[in-house]
Amino acid sequence: MPELNLVLLGPPGSGKGTQGERLQEDLRLPYYATGDILRAAVREETELGRTAKEYMDRGDLVPDDVIVGVIAERIDTTEAADGFILDGFPRTLPQAEALAARLEELGRALTAVLLIDASDDEVVRRLGGRRTCEENGHVFHVEFNPPEKEGVCDIDGSPLVVRDDDEPDVIRHRLDQYHEKTEPLVDFYDHQSLLRRIDGTAAPDDVGIEVERTLATLRLEGDEAI
Ligand code: AP5
Repeated sequence: MPELNLVLLGPPGSGKGTQGERLQEDLRLPYYATGDILRAAVREETELGRTAKEYMDRGDLVPDDVIVGVIAERIDTTEAADGFILDGFPRTLPQAEALAARLEELGRALTAVLLIDASDDEVVRRLGGRRTCEENGHVFHVEFNPPEKEGVCDIDGSPLVVRDDDEPDVIRHRLDQYHEKTEPLVDFYDHQSLLRRIDGTAAPDDVGIEVERTLATLRLEGDEAI
């Protein structure tokens, strides 16, 4: 397969970041998670961060015109020449259309969209116990994926914190936003035969195995198409 251009789609807390970290290591492709990019911009108090913060704190999506440029510039880089993994983008139909148009300009296309799905109740349970590494966004869960030492990231030793948008009322609002604005992308990509469904309710390792199987099938399909 010449290049692997992947999108991770799914509700908040379905495990996109957890699987994205594993995929990044396995595939050695650049991983662009818009939530992480925006949180870094907030920490660094850049113009992007100042714009995004009020939307993120409320659990609203940041405006399309703000986020589209952030991704458009990243996929047109040397490091993304062999492919990329997008997590959290696109999240609206206009974002999906802008991504398709940009890829077409570059003579490229998406390989697949992996939908990692979980119910609203599961999402609330997961995000309530999530702990996130302050420095690099590594993700843990107090029950399902606890760090070796409480409150400390296993990977880089940074403090683990509760994200501002993981408060119960904000989680509910993020879910509403997902159902209203992002879920239409499931049909959008299904109609283009790009969608691959992954059951996100299994244990993280089992979800990872299903993702690997899906990628192996994609490679086979890619080889057969050549
Ligand atoms: P973002 O950071 O992208 O948040 P999200 O999509 O809501 O996703 P999460 O990071 O909450 O969850 P996840 O699916 O990555 O799950 P995770 O692996 O952490 O976006 C934040 C905000 O930025 C948005 O609200 C918006 O304001 C803005 N934004 C970002 N992109 C945007 C865009 N394109 N347009 C506009 N605005 C944008 O897992 C969750 C927890 O569950 C963890 O504790 C984990 O350990 C645990 N877990 C994971 N998998 C399993 C499993 N299989 N079983 C049990 N527990 C599990």
